[in-house]
Amino acid sequence: MKIREAKVEDAKAMIGYLDQVAVESDNLTFEPGELGITIKIEEKILAHAQASEKDVFFMAMENNEIVGNLNFHGSTRKRIAHVGEFGISVRKSHWGQGIGGQLMDELLLWAPKHGIRKINLRVRADNEAAIRLYARKGFSKEGLLRCEYMIDGICIDHLAMGLVLEERDDQ
Ligand SMILES: CC(C)(COP(=O)(O)OP(=O)(O)OC[C@H]1O[C@@H](n2cnc3c(N)ncnc32)[C@H](O)[C@@H]1OP(=O)(O)O)[C@@H](O)C(=O)NCCC(=O)NCCS
Repeated sequence: MKIREAKVEDAKAMIGYLDQVAVESDNLTFEPGELGITIKIEEKILAHAQASEKDVFFMAMENNEIVGNLNFHGSTRKRIAHVGEFGISVRKSHWGQGIGGQLMDELLLWAPKHGIRKINLRVRADNEAAIRLYARKGFSKEGLLRCEYMIDGICIDHLAMGLVLEERDDQ
């Protein structure tokens, strides 16, 4: 397994990957078939991320296929240029092999080189595997976001988690 940054030419494969993980997990913001992004739009998103100092898409690749991804989004506005948020997913067939952890390690190396000092994420409050992974990487729970998802008419709470990079134990 190798991790690299996504390129514009990865747009088609990225859409195929996202459609697949939507089927495999209820923890993402989109349902199966709902992504609604064309290859052209995805190319623009990836081109923007490549050009922006505060955005990055990492892909975990195995046998030329995407098996995991992490996308981080920041801002160039001065007051919030030090902070950003990421989303992460791994193909179900590859869960529990350390890929999620390695994608986060890439982000934690990338972030300080791009002026990021605080990383945020939101996670379903019942997504224990993900919360354990984030806690292991130093993230702490910052607050409960009530009824962030509505699935089959049922409210699902989320946790806001964050990491101030200079407060990491291994700094
Ligand atoms: C959450 C998610 C990204 C985690 O990815 P992952 O690759 O399975 O994560 P890791 O393998 O790094 O860590 C998960 C577990 O595997 C264990 N693990 C790590 N390396 C391992 C290895 N080499 N061999 C076996 N197990 C390993 C970890 O100890 C961890 O165990 P734990 O659950 O007891 O803490 C993945 O489950 C996923 O995509 N879920 C669906 C989408 C989702 O929930 N996204 C998050 C939205 S906020």
